[in-house]
Amino acid sequence: MTTEAYHPGLEGVIAGKSAVSSIEGGLQYRGYDIEDLARESTFMEVAYLLLHGKLPSEEEMADFLAIYTESAEIDAALIDFLSQIPLHVSAMDVLRTGISALGHFDPQLDEESPDADIAKTVRLLAKIPILIAARHRQSLGLELIPPDPDINFAANVLYMITGKRPAELRERAMDVSLILHAEHELNASTFTARVVTSTHSDIYSAVVAAVGALKGPLHGGGNERVLEQLEEIGSHEQAESWVREALADNRRIMGFGHRIYKTDDPRAEILKRYCKELAERTHNQDLEQTADVIEQVVREQKGLPPNLDWPSARLYHYLGLDLELFTPLFAAARVAGWAAHVIEQSANNRLIRPRSLYTGPPQQRYVPIVGR
Ligand SMILES: CC(C)(COP(=O)(O)OP(=O)(O)OC[C@H]1O[C@@H](n2cnc3c(N)ncnc32)[C@H](O)[C@@H]1OP(=O)(O)O)[C@@H](O)C(=O)NCCC(=O)NCCS
Repeated sequence: MTTEAYHPGLEGVIAGKSAVSSIEGGLQYRGYDIEDLARESTFMEVAYLLLHGKLPSEEEMADFLAIYTESAEIDAALIDFLSQIPLHVSAMDVLRTGISALGHFDPQLDEESPDADIAKTVRLLAKIPILIAARHRQSLGLELIPPDPDINFAANVLYMITGKRPAELRERAMDVSLILHAEHELNASTFTARVVTSTHSDIYSAVVAAVGALKGPLHGGGNERVLEQLEEIGSHEQAESWVREALADNRRIMGFGHRIYKTDDPRAEILKRYCKELAERTHNQDLEQTADVIEQVVREQKGLPPNLDWPSARLYHYLGLDLELFTPLFAAARVAGWAAHVIEQSANNRLIRPRSLYTGPPQQRYVPIVGR
C-alpha cells in the first residue's frame, strides 16, 4: 500500500459507476438538466424518473401517484410510539428511528427485486412526510393532519406541517426545493446507502444509515446551521463586519463551499430566485440583504460559492417552517435518490470494501497481563 493511493476524504476517487445523475457540466438527473426539471417538472415525476430511469407517460404517472396516495398513511401504533419518544430528541433522530420502524410494517420487507424496491420506495416517499409532520405537531401539542389526496406531494408536505393548504408560489417553491434535493451523485449519504446495499442488506437498512449520514452539519445538517447563523447576525447592517471577522478567525461559514462545485452550485442559483420572490411576499427583505452581503464577501475573500443549504434554509424559513424540520425535509426528498442508487447497486453488485493506510505501532510482542 503506497501513500499515493490514499486520498483523504476519498476526494477525486471514482468509487463506482452510476447512471442516476451526473455533475459534469451542470447537474443532470438521468440525462435531464436540473434547470429544465426545476422549471417544468414536479417532485413526484422526478422521483419516477430517478427510480425507473425514464420520464413516465401520463398513464404510468397516474399509476405511480395512485400507489403513493394509497400508501399515504402510517399505522396508529407507530404514531403512538413516536409520541413516547422524549421531546428533547432531535427530529432527525426521530426520523431515523421512525423509518426503521416503518420497515417492520412493510409487507415486502424481505422481497429482493427492483420492483419490490420501487414499491417500498413509493411507500417511504408517502410515509416519511407523515412521520415528519406527525412528530412535529405532536411536539407542539397540535392535532395531526392527514394528507389531502387532492393536492400534490409538495403541497401536502406544507399542509400536514402547518395545517394550511399553500398558495401557488409556496407550493411551487417547495416542489422545486424537493426536486433540487432529490439526488446528487455519490455524496456521503448516498455512498453510505450503497455500502450498506453492497453487503446484500435491505433498502430500509440502507435508508436508515443514509439518514444518519445526512444528519451531520457537513452534509444535510448544514441547512439548520445556516439559519442559526443568519439569525445570530441579526440584520444586514451587521453582515459585513460579522463575516469578515468570522473569516479572519478561520471560522467556517455554513452554507458555503462544496467538495465538487468550486465556482457555482447550480441548485443554489435556482433556489435563490424563489427566495427573492418569497422574501418579498413575506417581508423578509432584510434577511435576503444579509444573505447577499455574506455571499459577496465570502466569494470575494475565499472564492467559495454558496451551496444548496444557503438558499434552502431561507426558503424554508419564509415558508414558515421551523428550523428542526429543515434536514428531515432534505431526507424526504433525497430518499428518491438513495433508492435509485440502492436499486442500481443491487443490480450490479460488488461488496464495497476499500483499504486503509496503516499508521499504528510496528509489530509488538504480546506480554501476558501479569507480566505488564
Ligand atoms: C462542504 C464542505 C464540507 C466541503 O469540504 P471539503 O471539500 O472537504 O473542503 P475542505 O474542508 O478541505 O476546505 C477547503 C478549504 O476551503 C475552506 N472552506 C471550505 N468551506 C468553507 C466555509 N464554509 N467557510 C470558510 N472556509 C471554508 C477550508 O477552510 C479550507 O481552507 P484551507 O485550504 O485554507 O484550509 C465544506 O465546504 C464546509 O464545511 N462547508 C460548510 C458546511 C456546509 O455548508 N455544509 C453543507 C454542504 S452541502
